[in-house]
Amino acid sequence: MDTLSGSAIPGGYGIRPPLVFCIDDPCMLARAIARELGIGLAEREYRRFEDGEHKMRPLESVRDRDLYLIAPMHGNGCESVNDRIMRLLFFIRCLRDADAGRVTVVAPYLAYARKDRRTKLRDPLSLRYLATLLEASGMDRILSLDVHNSSGFDNAFRCPTVHLGAGHLLADALLPFLDRERPPVVLSPDIGGVKRAEAFRSTLSGKLSAEAGLGFMEKYRSEDVLSGGTLVGDVDGRTVVIVDDLIAGGGTISRAVETCHDQGAARILACVTHRVPGKATPKLPFPKLEKLFVTSTIPWPDDTGESERIEVVPVEPLLAAAIATLSKSGTLNALVQT
Ligand code: R5P
Repeated sequence: MDTLSGSAIPGGYGIRPPLVFCIDDPCMLARAIARELGIGLAEREYRRFEDGEHKMRPLESVRDRDLYLIAPMHGNGCESVNDRIMRLLFFIRCLRDADAGRVTVVAPYLAYARKDRRTKLRDPLSLRYLATLLEASGMDRILSLDVHNSSGFDNAFRCPTVHLGAGHLLADALLPFLDRERPPVVLSPDIGGVKRAEAFRSTLSGKLSAEAGLGFMEKYRSEDVLSGGTLVGDVDGRTVVIVDDLIAGGGTISRAVETCHDQGAARILACVTHRVPGKATPKLPFPKLEKLFVTSTIPWPDDTGESERIEVVPVEPLLAAAIATLSKSGTLNALVQT
């Protein structure tokens, strides 16, 4: 399968199509996924009480059904990451108590994924604790996209995990901005992202029919202060494509942009899967960045005045194709790509 458009979704669910619930309120992403699947979102009642408690229940029978819960996990101005996780946990248990057949959580952006290992004495393993809570509630399977560290993701959960990559989609969006006569250098802004950057480089080279270069930067973070600025690779006179799983405060990409510029890069672009709300929200704080490609896993406010420099790459068709395939017990090989 080359492109993952709605037409890639195999039809024929039979008399019992999957039930897709939205855990957020409202959730544009869930609506778009349901549209791609050609089904409506399953009805549920959601109430928030004055003291912050909440209740959600399905408004139709879920007995023996194959359920997919679209679960945004980023915090926004109204709700915290933890509010959303708590709502998800209660809803999973509620569905289980109503005899649901199988419950798959679809978390386009997985919260706490960056804390999958100890970097300091007695550090928490937050991703594993989140996995334990979701499984204890009755989740059967989890699907996510470009998790910070895919091995950390696989190891945190005991239930089946499905990890999808947005690299092909980002590379397709980037192609019109590149020149195959002058292939770019793909740069990871930290050492932890080198594998991701190399996979992206390989994907991009294939699509460009020209061999892109690879580079990476040194980065250390302690108490939210970044340090280390060595760049390994040659960016002088080249187009640089910075690749990262997420942008939050913007410090990582900002430093990478500055360093590439100082080392003579001709053009600087960036491809990022998740835009996590943070200091980078109101404006891109790095004027030397020509364009930022970011997927639709987390909505980007459209009032930043940055629309020309930001291209949002939709992931709804990919997520819908994955749900359609899983609901028919099909193989995800064509979708599980970088
Ligand atoms: C960290 O290793 C991640 O891959 C990102 O580079 C990081 O979380 C980005 O955060 P920020 O935008 O706050 O620097």
